[in-house]
Amino acid sequence: MEYRAKCDTLLEGADAFARAKLSEKRYGHTVRVADTAEDLARKHGLDPDRTRLAALLHDAARETDPEEFLRLAEEWNLPVGEPERQSPKLLHGPVAAELARRELGVEDEEVLSAIRAHTVGRAGMGPIALALYVADKIEPARDYPSVERIRSLALKDLYEAAAESLRRVIGHNEGRGKPIHPASRAMLEWLEEA
Ligand SMILES: [Fe+2]
Ligand SMILES: [Fe+2]
Repeated sequence: MEYRAKCDTLLEGADAFARAKLSEKRYGHTVRVADTAEDLARKHGLDPDRTRLAALLHDAARETDPEEFLRLAEEWNLPVGEPERQSPKLLHGPVAAELARRELGVEDEEVLSAIRAHTVGRAGMGPIALALYVADKIEPARDYPSVERIRSLALKDLYEAAAESLRRVIGHNEGRGKPIHPASRAMLEWLEEA
């Protein structure tokens, strides 16, 4: 199959997969993230199809039950730390990446790792992962005080936009006495050093 046709088939499959797995509301979020991530990819010279693919699948496992997350993680040997044991839905990225690989045959490691890292972040993530991470926070239905600032940063610099977004999440959680995932702190440190 030629490249374009292969891409379209994969994108259509991912779209149908997300639609089948998710409520209408979350599927709506998924499509908005996909459109936003694809736009960011074009703006920053990344592959729009691979970025869209990651975005279409990022939340595909979001509606799994907590016990099922832990069962699947064990079955598939996914890393489970204390934060994931406390809040199994943090596993929805890693579980979605496994579903993408096992059920849709996605083998593109950059796409899979973008899906895996979209929730708590990861230091050293690649540009496709960064575009997805930011798109998830700024899709058109997102509404919080600094969203416009992060949207305009995202047009100029994905690294800056991700750092600003992490500072917001970390500040917000600290303010409410909620734990910060070590991967989020590590990602912010990485971005601030860069
Ligand atoms: Fe998510
Ligand atoms: Fe999302």
